[in-house]
Amino acid sequence: MNKLNILLAASEVVPFAKSGGLADVAGALPKALKALGHDVRVVMPRYYVVDKEKYNLQPLQGELGVPMGSMGKAWAGVYEGVLPNSDVPVYFIEHDGFFGRKGLYDENGEGYGDNDNRFIFFSKAVMQLAKKLHFRPDVIHVNDWHTAPIPVLLNTTYANDPDFKNTGTLLSIHNLQHQGKFYKGAMDVLGVGWEHFNMHELEEYGGINLLKGGIVHTDAMNAVSKKYAQEIRTPEFGWGLDGLINAKAYKLYGILNGVDYDEWSPAIDEFIPQTFDNDDLVGKAVCKEALQKAFNLPVRADVPLIGLVGRLAEQKGITLLSSAIWNLMEMDIQIVLLGAGEKWAEHFFSDVATKYPHKFGCFIGYKNDLSHQIEAGSDMFLMPSLFEPCGLNQIYSLRYGTVPIVRATGGLDDTIQNYESTTQSGTGFKFYDATPEALTGTVKWAVDVWYNDKEGFEKVRQNGMKQRFDWAEAAQGYEDLYRHIIGGRLSSVHQ
Ligand code: ADP
Ligand code: GLC
Repeated sequence: MNKLNILLAASEVVPFAKSGGLADVAGALPKALKALGHDVRVVMPRYYVVDKEKYNLQPLQGELGVPMGSMGKAWAGVYEGVLPNSDVPVYFIEHDGFFGRKGLYDENGEGYGDNDNRFIFFSKAVMQLAKKLHFRPDVIHVNDWHTAPIPVLLNTTYANDPDFKNTGTLLSIHNLQHQGKFYKGAMDVLGVGWEHFNMHELEEYGGINLLKGGIVHTDAMNAVSKKYAQEIRTPEFGWGLDGLINAKAYKLYGILNGVDYDEWSPAIDEFIPQTFDNDDLVGKAVCKEALQKAFNLPVRADVPLIGLVGRLAEQKGITLLSSAIWNLMEMDIQIVLLGAGEKWAEHFFSDVATKYPHKFGCFIGYKNDLSHQIEAGSDMFLMPSLFEPCGLNQIYSLRYGTVPIVRATGGLDDTIQNYESTTQSGTGFKFYDATPEALTGTVKWAVDVWYNDKEGFEKVRQNGMKQRFDWAEAAQGYEDLYRHIIGGRLSSVHQ
C-alpha cells in the first residue's frame, strides 16, 4: 500500500510541552505511524517552556507569513526538531507575542484573554507551513478546539489551493468540555467570511465556537474511546453539541488511545527506585516503601496505598472525592495525591494532609518523575472521573500492577474489567453512580479484597499487568481511518 503524508497538529506534544493526555497522544501516535511506513510530521507552538537547546531545535530559513484577517499579517519563526528516539520531524511555530509566555493556555488559573487569536494564528500557521515545506498532506490530523479551525480553513480559504487538493481531515476529540468559545469578533481574524457565522457552522448563542466549526467541516472525527464516542451523543456528556454530533454520527469513530511502553513500563522505568515486572514484584515493594517515605507516611507494607495523579478539575471527580474523603480516612489505608488545578481543591486536599498526616499525602504541582513513582509504588489507583474520554493513568496503572478503582465512564469503562470473585477475573474495581457513597463503597470493596482475599487481589493485579494497549494497534486503526477519509474525498471529487 502507498505511504501516506500525514500532518498532525496539536497544542501540546510530549516531551516538549504537556498539560495532560493530549500531549502523550501527540508524542506517541506519530512514532507508531512512522513505524507503519508513513511520512508523518508534527506541528506545535513554540511556547516559552519548549527548551530549544535541550532538544536541539534548529531554525528553518525564512519567516512564515500568516494572514490574520483584520489583524493584518503576522510573522512566525519556525524551528525544527524530532520526536525523541525517532526521526519524526516536529515543527515549532514561534511568535513571541502569542507564545512567549509562561503558560500554555493560562496563568494562575486564568485563561489568556487572546486564546482565540493565539490558536487561530497557530491553525493558519500550520497551513502556511505545509505550503512552505512543499509537504502535501493526504490527511491533516487535528486535535481538540485549538486546531479545529483547520478543517474550516481547508474548506474555505484554501478550498481551491492546489497544495491541498485531496487533503482530508481527521479531528480527534480528546475533551468535549473545552470548545474554544469566544466573542464573535474572532470571525474577522479567522477571515473565512461572515456567511460561515451561522448556527450550522461556527455560531453558537451569538458567539463563535471553534470546535463546532471543526466538527461540521472535518471529514471524520475520533473520540478516543468507543464508550466516549457513544456518550457524547447524549445531553449528559454532549456539552450542548450532542445534537450536532448525532447529526454527524456517520463520521464519528472511537479509536482507543495506546500507551508508550518505552515511557511507562516498570521493567525499564528510570524514574523509579527499583524496576520490577509481573514475574518479580520485589521492586514494587521497594517502590512502595520509597513512596511512603517521600510523603512522610508511616512505612508499612501491611496497609494498602492508593495513588491519585491528575489535573484537579471537576472532570476528574474531585468534588466526589472531597465528599468521600472523611469516610475514606476512617479506613486503614493510605492515600497519596499528585495534582494541580482548581484552587479550592488544592487547598482542600492540602488541609486533608495536615489533618491526617499518617494517612494522606499530597503534592500540589506538576511533577513527571513523581507521577511515575506513584504508579509504581501504589497498590491501587483511584480515578473517580465524572467523564473521561480515554484516560491514560488507569492504563499505566495496569502495567505497574497498581489495581485501578474507577468510575465506569468513557475510556475508564472500556479499559477496565470489573473484578469477579467467583472466577477471579477482571482487572480492577468499578463503580457506576457518581456519588460519594458509590466511590466509598467501591474503595471499601477493593480494600477488603486486598486485606482478606490476597489471592484474588494478586490475580487481578496479574491480569492487569499482562494487558497491553500498544500504539502499534491503535495506529493501524488510524491508518485505516485515514484511508477511508481519503477514499471518501476522492469519490466525492469524481462524482
Ligand atoms: P487528561 O488528559 O484529562 O489530563 P489523562 O489520563 O489522559 O488525563 O492524561 C493525564 C496525563 O498527565 C498523564 O500522563 C498523567 O500522568 C499526567 N499528569 C496529570 N497531572 C499531573 C501532575 N500533576 N504531575 C505529573 N503528571 C501529571
Ligand atoms: C483528554 C481526556 C483524557 C484523554 C486525553 C488523551 O485530556 O481528558 O481522558 O485520555 O485527552 O486523549
